[in-house]
Amino acid sequence: MTILKTINDETIAEAAERLSAGELVCFPTETVYGLGANALSGQAVAKIFEAKNRPSFNPLIVHVADKKQAEKYAVFNDAAQALAGQFWPGPLTLILPRNPQGGISDLVTAGLDTVAIRVPAHPGALKLLKKCGLPVAAPSANASGEPSATTPQHVIESLKDRVPFILAGGACTVGLESTVLDLTSDTPFILRPGAITPEDFAPVIGNVAYDFGDHDRPRSPGQLIKHYAPSLPVRLNAVDIAPGEALLSFGSVAFMGIRGGGSAKSLPDTQHISLSETGDLYEAAARLFAGLRHLDCAPHTGIAVMNIPDKGVGVAINDRLKRAAQGR
Ligand code: TXA
Ligand code: MG
Repeated sequence: MTILKTINDETIAEAAERLSAGELVCFPTETVYGLGANALSGQAVAKIFEAKNRPSFNPLIVHVADKKQAEKYAVFNDAAQALAGQFWPGPLTLILPRNPQGGISDLVTAGLDTVAIRVPAHPGALKLLKKCGLPVAAPSANASGEPSATTPQHVIESLKDRVPFILAGGACTVGLESTVLDLTSDTPFILRPGAITPEDFAPVIGNVAYDFGDHDRPRSPGQLIKHYAPSLPVRLNAVDIAPGEALLSFGSVAFMGIRGGGSAKSLPDTQHISLSETGDLYEAAARLFAGLRHLDCAPHTGIAVMNIPDKGVGVAINDRLKRAAQGR
């Protein structure tokens, strides 16, 4: 049985007690819902891997209340100081050398000597982190391989009763997981694109390149894993749709036809979700995972997705869509 409670001071206090007792708590962040456990306890963290059916070689992000707390667990260089000052709280995860005295469980870091850490910008998440005083390991609150959960309903759909307690705080505003920035080598690399982009980093630390891990030596174990895929096949850059396909559109569908006759304009809401009618990439990011989940059902034969411009946060949207199109 899953207990679902609206997030407020009282339920945050209950969630904090549960985390301290080594239990799992699902909570909203500005990016996606997280499935949290006390990062200092291997026993508690093991429950995350079990609930998500996540491979244990894939390390987790540690969530903390502020930079001061982060410095207990990670070693900050000048770039890390500057970036945390500029973007925390916010959708930015820093990969930093792990502080061996910090006590973060080896299960969280998958035995690496680095740690992924962030301060989320959701007020409820911040209150929870302050209240429990613990570093909280939290991956996205979905079964491994599926699109991430951006509403409490999606958490329940995906994890069923494997999650005991959910703090419900509505839909996530960003909708895509945090940007993951590796600061452990001489050159910084973006390992996972997100809402904070190279254009945002440039004034703080200069030019930053992407490393999508599509080569011999991926820097992030997560880059090896099948991810974000609905159960139906996903077809990218669609310029028309096949009969039976559902449509995830971006911008106007005025000129989008159905093969054999008909217009996408006439599709029912069950078969068509617009990521953004006006072509707003932030709106599209916030709707992406919910849209994929909504269309992922019979009698549809697949999900056709219109082209998304590969700039700004569009790079992060396209990263998720390309992985979704690879299937489970
Ligand atoms: O927005 C987010 O980041 C959400 C919310 C809940 O905060 N969390 C999230 O966690 O997306 P997860 O576990 O789904 O993704 C963590 C990513 C994985 O790709 C993992 O491989 C990578 O971060 N990662 C974690 N620790 C790492 C490390 N030490 N070195 C390289 N990559 C690491
Ligand atoms: Mg995830």
